[in-house]
Amino acid sequence: MTQSLQEIQKPLLQWYAAHARALPWRENTDPYRVWVSEIMLQQTRVDTVIGYFNRFMQALPDVQALSRCPQDTLYKLWEGLGYYSRVRNLQKAAQIVADQYGGHLPENYEALLKLPGIGAYTAGAIASIAFEQKHAAVDGNVLRILARITADPGDLNNPGLRRRYGQMLEAIYPARGQRGAFTQSLMELGATVCLPNGRPLCENCPVSAYCQAFLEDMTDAFPVKTPRRAKQEQAITVFLICCAGKIALMRRPEKGLLSGMWSFVHTQEALDAQSATRWLDRHGVHADQITPLPARRHIFTHVIWHMNGFAVAAPQIPDAFMAADEAALARCALPTAFAKYLPEALLALRS
Ligand code: ADE
Repeated sequence: MTQSLQEIQKPLLQWYAAHARALPWRENTDPYRVWVSEIMLQQTRVDTVIGYFNRFMQALPDVQALSRCPQDTLYKLWEGLGYYSRVRNLQKAAQIVADQYGGHLPENYEALLKLPGIGAYTAGAIASIAFEQKHAAVDGNVLRILARITADPGDLNNPGLRRRYGQMLEAIYPARGQRGAFTQSLMELGATVCLPNGRPLCENCPVSAYCQAFLEDMTDAFPVKTPRRAKQEQAITVFLICCAGKIALMRRPEKGLLSGMWSFVHTQEALDAQSATRWLDRHGVHADQITPLPARRHIFTHVIWHMNGFAVAAPQIPDAFMAADEAALARCALPTAFAKYLPEALLALRS
């Protein structure tokens, strides 16, 4: 297989040289820029990442700046991107790189892998794009491309598949000077041509002549994917507790979903107006008025939140919560799930 897989190298590189999108993290191969962009791109679309990436680089142009950035500022730069553990790990790793490597990311693949938030994919991307090493970066796009080229019946959810594809690719990596381009040519093909869900643009593909799935007219059949476990469904009741131009905020627990993030007061149960009033009383909020809010939904990777909520006019905000005025609320990086109640929160704050 490696012998024939070798055939894709040249056409892919040529195609990439002609068709690569001009993206801000491709302006140079500064390892810090490559690293930050790959972390942002892990769960987020390119179009969305561009603005965040430019703002992040302007505010925090190097490892030292990131390592010293106050957490609230950091969360603000990340606000709306979600998966905040990514930015927490990014900073932890920056502190290690500042302390132990003089502010320069290590070139060694194993050393990269030891840094918080850097797994095989990111280490491979940094090692090849920033340091021109022979390391593949196998993400979902690359899995799909290889599964189609080889018409592989292996299950996409099998963790061994990533390793196997990584090895197959590393056997056909080009010479130094083209390795970063090769890694990105695969990402680019997956993002713009070898599209998922029955929409591949095979007529634009530089390697369709070597693609077993294309030749057998079976692109839809690959990659093979058995359904994942259903997401866990959870009920959440959100309280917009307002008093004299301030709203009550709480921090999420230090462990688990949205750990340590600011949020509106909430509880993980479905409450009606009556049980909500009892919950509020138990937490020292003796409401003057409580008004139901529309239901909202938020989908995380493994969990779905079904949220309902109440706007609560209260005579005071108990000390257990933080009382934030509108400016303080704007400074908090509110996770997207809670930001879904932001319009109602602003309305309640201003009334
Ligand atoms: N997705 C992941 N990494 C990428 C990159 N470097 N360019 C474009 N899309 C990507």
